[in-house]
Amino acid sequence: MSGKKPPHKPATQLVEAGRRPEWTGAIVNPPVWRASTHIFETEADRKAALSANHDGQFYYGRRGAPTQWALADALTGLEPGAYGTMLYPSGVAAIAASLMAVLRPGDMLLVTDNAYEPTRNIARGLLKRWGVKHRFFDPLDIDSFTTLCTDEKPRAVWLESPGSLTMEVCDVPALATIAREHGAVSLIDNTWATSLGFPALQHGCDISVMSLTKHVGGHSDLMMGSASAGERWYKALRQNAQQLGHVVSPDDAALALRGLRTMGLRLERGVESAAVVAKWLQSRPEVAHVLCPLIPGDAGHELWNRDFSGGCGLFSFVLNSGDEAARARLVDNLQLFGIGYSWGGFESLALPFDPAPMRDVMAWPPAACDTTQKLGIRLSIGLEDPADLIADLESGFTAMGDA
Ligand SMILES: Cc1ncc(COP(=O)(O)O)c(C=O)c1O
Repeated sequence: MSGKKPPHKPATQLVEAGRRPEWTGAIVNPPVWRASTHIFETEADRKAALSANHDGQFYYGRRGAPTQWALADALTGLEPGAYGTMLYPSGVAAIAASLMAVLRPGDMLLVTDNAYEPTRNIARGLLKRWGVKHRFFDPLDIDSFTTLCTDEKPRAVWLESPGSLTMEVCDVPALATIAREHGAVSLIDNTWATSLGFPALQHGCDISVMSLTKHVGGHSDLMMGSASAGERWYKALRQNAQQLGHVVSPDDAALALRGLRTMGLRLERGVESAAVVAKWLQSRPEVAHVLCPLIPGDAGHELWNRDFSGGCGLFSFVLNSGDEAARARLVDNLQLFGIGYSWGGFESLALPFDPAPMRDVMAWPPAACDTTQKLGIRLSIGLEDPADLIADLESGFTAMGDA
């Protein structure tokens, strides 16, 4: 017996994660440690800090202070296999910076075709200008992906599962294994499930990226992103973030840490309520198809069951008929759902979407949908009572018919 204690269960980890020695004693939460400048006692101390360059050691505000270190430590502890976590001013900054940490001019990047649109734009814009080539791939077509890896010799592969608009769950362990066999680094946007619902590094990914704006913040009042990785890639992320000057505010870090404490409960509630609302939508004549891996029968449900231990309240559906004006009447008449981007807050949101222009290789609607209708609506289910949300959607459907 090694005598090493097994790690606590996720719910316990969420409570204890990131408590740092700087505030031992009576303090539960870290102070909001606002600082650009740290004063050294002596010239010898300044030189020691300069040469050590460790995280968790005062140097200068851009390297953070105990509030930011606490959040980074907490996220590292929650991602099995992670050595460290870098924080970024938004999820998009985390995506761009983690790709820049891995890629060099001349490299090839393979991007899942169902990726969040700004991720696609980073490949098509920033990275292209920087001399990085890219190809989009269908994450459900493993054979074509293998061929692409053989032909294109990618340096990196970008995954997102489920796709945050169209909700396809892909076989991340298989894709990451193929990528590794071809010498490519796998990065994943793990915002939907978080490391609680999908331990991405354990499933074969090298870098796990999250928009903390969503579930970790949880209250729709901050923007932040993170990237967690094993030692090799953490060091590259850290060097890159420092050169780009990425730093997050201690006030936001404190808010994110507060959000993290209740994230498990909020995610559980989101999954339960989303399943109730999704099943109700399946019964509605106005709905052609519900895209929600949480419910049996969905194309991604089996893989979700196999690889995920949780999820969240974000899913989509396709309308059975009508035009954009009818869809607008529906969402305009919702009282509890706001029309808005983002998700993962305590409040419900509805977002009309049309993914066709954002796809290079995947069809919309997908064959699994068994419909030719195209008008999508994404719902982020918040903490309201699902019965109220269903009543709200019902009145939206009634208004949709009132041309
Ligand atoms: C899947 C996904 N990843 C990343 C982001 C970007 O996060 P942020 O808004 O914090 O930049 C978003 C934002 O909507 C998202 O939906």
